[in-house]
Amino acid sequence: MRFVNSYETKIKKLVQEKSLTYSIDTMGCQMNENDSSKYMGILESMGFRKTTSDKANLILFNTCCVRENAENTLFGRLGFLKKRKLNEENVYIVVVGCMTQQRHILEKIKESYKFVDIVLGTGSMSLFPEKLYNVLFSNKKEIEYIEAGNEIEEDIPIIYEDKYKASVSIIYGCNNFCSYCIVPYVRGRERSRRPEDILKDIEKLAKNGYKEIMLLGQNVNSYGNDFKDRYTFPDLLKDIEKIDGIEIIRFMSPHPKDFKDDLIEVIRNSKKIARQIHLPLQSGSTKILKEMNRKYTKEEYLTLAKKLKAADPEISLSTDIIVGFPGESEKDFEDTLDVVSQIKFDQIYMFIYSKREGTKAAKMEDFITNSQKVERLERLKRLYENELPLLNKKMIGRCYKVLVEGKSKNNDEFYTGRTSQNKVVIFKADEKRIGKIVNVKIDSEHLWYLKGTIEE
Ligand code: SAH
Ligand code: SF4
Ligand code: F3S
Repeated sequence: MRFVNSYETKIKKLVQEKSLTYSIDTMGCQMNENDSSKYMGILESMGFRKTTSDKANLILFNTCCVRENAENTLFGRLGFLKKRKLNEENVYIVVVGCMTQQRHILEKIKESYKFVDIVLGTGSMSLFPEKLYNVLFSNKKEIEYIEAGNEIEEDIPIIYEDKYKASVSIIYGCNNFCSYCIVPYVRGRERSRRPEDILKDIEKLAKNGYKEIMLLGQNVNSYGNDFKDRYTFPDLLKDIEKIDGIEIIRFMSPHPKDFKDDLIEVIRNSKKIARQIHLPLQSGSTKILKEMNRKYTKEEYLTLAKKLKAADPEISLSTDIIVGFPGESEKDFEDTLDVVSQIKFDQIYMFIYSKREGTKAAKMEDFITNSQKVERLERLKRLYENELPLLNKKMIGRCYKVLVEGKSKNNDEFYTGRTSQNKVVIFKADEKRIGKIVNVKIDSEHLWYLKGTIEE
């Protein structure tokens, strides 16, 4: 489906007359960040100007529901806005994203947060201009439940805040139904964008000076499973490799169960694919992995990780781990620790299991106490933080290519960028280097970042 905004002219006229502004508050993952860039694109094409949320006329919340605590955050923020909505004119509140695909959230908004103007789910962005038109011109509320969109919406305008790196969605939705996860219920079924649409977008980015591309999907390596012509994720990577100007290609997340040898080959032979692969483990216990419906064993995961490192020893691995899944015994958790100490991940995103109504795991009996979960998280964190300096130390004295992203936030003298392994490096440079790729020799490590010097 091609996005056409037939309300653009009418809305723009009103927006300009009233000088309306907007703000976007994004929760959740990179998929949501990417959707927010599209909301920015749509709003700016209709004349809205960006400002901070305390001043904005239109306040948009792009929500996440992967874990429970996000609900409290959203309702807290909405509650805070009630006074403005009641006392000021031209204040519009919009709630979009994953959380709104849950019926109980919609009911709660209808009952207790009646001042919200628009609720819109995932994959339905094309409906946004019409809804906004009805709110702006007829003072109508637009808060009906809409099923998660199962189509692909192409040609939505998009605005990136970064000037040199951009994310590009290649596949929407998820078919995996990991037993703990709400995403398949709120993002619909897997659907791959046509390669010509993706390549056109990336070529345009390259022409505009973008150097780094992050390909996004809940499971990027099932890209193309819904095509008849058998075009696959490795094919897409090879085609992106040919685009002049793009120097760094990243992707997330691949699913270990679908990580086949042809993909490893493409990574090995590529000059552009980053030497960092995000390989979500979730648990190191084969028993728990089965309960999670992950479709790989501890041994299969270890074999895959070793194959990747053998393909290129420069490859670093990052991962996601859930602790305290229902039924996780001390022995199961030790299996997770064992994988962590064998693989030596450069980055671990750790989560305490959060029960999500509607998922299979929500029905499993959960005997693990909260303090046990917190204790396991702490042990995992300690193991990781003990190993990280050793990995970082190996980088000292060596040279890495780094895309200069901008000034370091914490240190005025320094500039910041990332190595191919996604390690943050700070170094002395000047304005002219921003957006360029430089060689940086690593001088010292500081747990979460490295310090280095540019080598000419
Ligand atoms: N599609 C991606 C990421 C999905 S959500 C993937 O498969 O890797 C990002 C991460 O949130 C997951 O990898 C998982 O570690 C975590 N997560 C998902 N559901 C969760 C839950 N119910 N409780 C705790 N963490 C969860
Ligand atoms: Fe959730 Fe699993 Fe799909 Fe990732 S692959 S989004 S964890 S169901
Ligand atoms: Fe959250 Fe939706 Fe992403 S639930 S993690 S924002 S896909």
